[in-house]
Amino acid sequence: MKNPIYSASFITAGKKWVPVSPYFKKNVALRGEVRRAMLHISSLGVFEAKINGVRVGEDYMTPGWTSYYKRLQYFTYDVTDMLQGRCEIVVGVGNGWYSSRGGFIHTKDGMYGEFPALIAALEIEYKNGEAETVVTDESWLVARSECLFSGIYDGEIYDATVVPVYENNAEILDFDKSVLIPLEGECVREAERVAVKEIIITPKGETVLDFGQEITGTVEFKLTARGGETVRLLHGEVLDSEGNFYNANYRTARSEIVYTARAGEQSYKAIYTFFGFRYVKLLNWCCEVKREDFVGIVLHSDMRRTGYFSSGHAKLNQLYSNVIWGQRDNFLDVPTDCPQRDERLGWTGDAEVFARTASINYDTEKFYTKWLRDVMAEQFENGAIPRVVPDVLRDEKNQCSAAWGDAACVIPWELYLAYGNKRLLREHIPLMKKWVGYQYSDGAERYLWLGGKHFGDWLGLDAPVGSYKGSTDPDLIASAYFYLSTTLLIKALDVLEMKSERYKRMAERIRKAFQKRFIKRGRLTSNTQTAHVVTIHFGLVDDKPELKERLGRRLVELIEANGDRLQTGFVGTPYLLDTLTEIGRADKAYTLLLQEKFPSWLFSVNMGATTIWEHWDSVNERGEMWSTDMNSFNHYAYGSVASWLYGTVLGIKPTSPAYATFELSPIPNRALGHARCCIETRSGTVRSAWAYGDGEIRYTFEVPEGTRAHLKLTDGTDRLLDGGKYTFITPID
Ligand code: BGC
Repeated sequence: MKNPIYSASFITAGKKWVPVSPYFKKNVALRGEVRRAMLHISSLGVFEAKINGVRVGEDYMTPGWTSYYKRLQYFTYDVTDMLQGRCEIVVGVGNGWYSSRGGFIHTKDGMYGEFPALIAALEIEYKNGEAETVVTDESWLVARSECLFSGIYDGEIYDATVVPVYENNAEILDFDKSVLIPLEGECVREAERVAVKEIIITPKGETVLDFGQEITGTVEFKLTARGGETVRLLHGEVLDSEGNFYNANYRTARSEIVYTARAGEQSYKAIYTFFGFRYVKLLNWCCEVKREDFVGIVLHSDMRRTGYFSSGHAKLNQLYSNVIWGQRDNFLDVPTDCPQRDERLGWTGDAEVFARTASINYDTEKFYTKWLRDVMAEQFENGAIPRVVPDVLRDEKNQCSAAWGDAACVIPWELYLAYGNKRLLREHIPLMKKWVGYQYSDGAERYLWLGGKHFGDWLGLDAPVGSYKGSTDPDLIASAYFYLSTTLLIKALDVLEMKSERYKRMAERIRKAFQKRFIKRGRLTSNTQTAHVVTIHFGLVDDKPELKERLGRRLVELIEANGDRLQTGFVGTPYLLDTLTEIGRADKAYTLLLQEKFPSWLFSVNMGATTIWEHWDSVNERGEMWSTDMNSFNHYAYGSVASWLYGTVLGIKPTSPAYATFELSPIPNRALGHARCCIETRSGTVRSAWAYGDGEIRYTFEVPEGTRAHLKLTDGTDRLLDGGKYTFITPID
């Protein structure tokens, strides 16, 4: 039977109150004792529902962000215990992603519509066997709420002195109900409460709260007021070099709470938006500022944590913590690039490079599955993938970049590797095929992807002055990714026992064409670290071991010529350490991992980072900020390094889906002293640890029952391990 929500109507308060968030109210006269009551609810905008004054459910930013014109989730709550003899439903709806401005800089209009709307159905079964369904329609009343404005980028304006008056009836909004789908993703929940670490009075005399950690969410505050005073809270990620409040890097996002108090004691937290912040500047605070009156509320998609890492190297542990926070802060219903400035968009490239790390840290299956369905819904006819999903940029020329669009093949494959779900993989095949088909048909050459409009090795440090794009030839990157996606498609088709011959022939031809075009006299035509990384790591010279070795040596030379430091951007960085390991130079990978001089991962740690920065030099050695136009302190892309911690430092690598079989090939390093990690896989918990001792390294492993591990230690030990716990000791000089 179809869910009763399909018989409800979308209701609104119309345009007249924009930008005030409306309340919708319905009093249901109960006909008897209730056996069961279910509320099915969704909105254009984000809703908070209350029954008899009590909040329904624990979810935030509902119904989440999907490609609203094509897919809109509804939530179902069992509200039986909430009816208690009477039933007054009040639902507030804020602009959320639907009618907030968004989708980048300078946009003024709502992303999908001008004002929010609600749709709901309350199914009631009475103990006497009768049943009724109450649906949203014109009989619902509307009132202006205390929330005078809400916006994803701009925050909330809230007047607690407002008394909502229900004088009007709701209006029906004609919006296609067939887009409604039951909840697919992970719900956004309150994950943690963070206390204020310090109240800072800055050199400029500003009062700033420091939460000690960059978080995504909101601040709940308490205050006692005479009534009518307006306080303001501004959010920021860092202080400037003088220690003053700074948020010029939020660009046009106001990220502000403006709160007008009523008389007496009260508390407030924004519910229709979220902020990315570590610092909060208070303006016009009407009473004494006390630490205990503020708490940071961490919001993110409620995924299960599955990966853990620690070592004897404090800075590395901080880097790992920054990766985890980077994920928590950017997995708020969709994988965003950043949670603070006027973007917060589902950039496909960022999602692609972080997917492996993300799926070890947390169980991401539901989260990515929902998002991939939006990727499928937004894929253009010709197979191109929009740069952001949901596609609010709506770029008619279907601009689409290599490495970004490749999320279409990389993420389905990573999900399959991590969780082994064949049904899902099958669901993703059309997406993967269409994407590979697009790469094949775009540009003049069939087996190379030439001339597209790409982001290149985004933010690579070898970028020409004034450009964001590293100097690696974008055609080389695009053609390498074309090969990668084709090989992933082949793997997927083979697993599903579907025909793959055509793609096998295609991959062979791409490889040949790639070598012909981009390798001249044994050298890559693009002499950059990133060019070497993608060529080696994607397998483009696997058929020529000598050439591979030579390119590997060249990669090491390039790193050494740069003072043992990287130069890579979004494309090269995620695979840099893996590539070095693959060519037998894990020692160099460690050098880069533990490098503290700029540019390096630990440079940001030394500069006090609590999340992963967008630029290697978001703040440079002189303490100066990268320009304000693109400088996020919370971009997870470079956090993709964590997969190397799990996969090489501790050596856990799946060799079949869901870790039914896996490798245990740790490569210890004395600088860490000891290291351990555990991954709660679908096949059980895998543990790997090692510690340097007196003249020995002691390894301990746990292999889940029913799985098998291939142990390979650096001293040549090579064994198969069945379920159980193991200790190995190898002597060292
Ligand atoms: C975003 C990135 C994104 C890039 C693509 C930026 O503005 O923040 O993370 O991938 O644009 O060009």
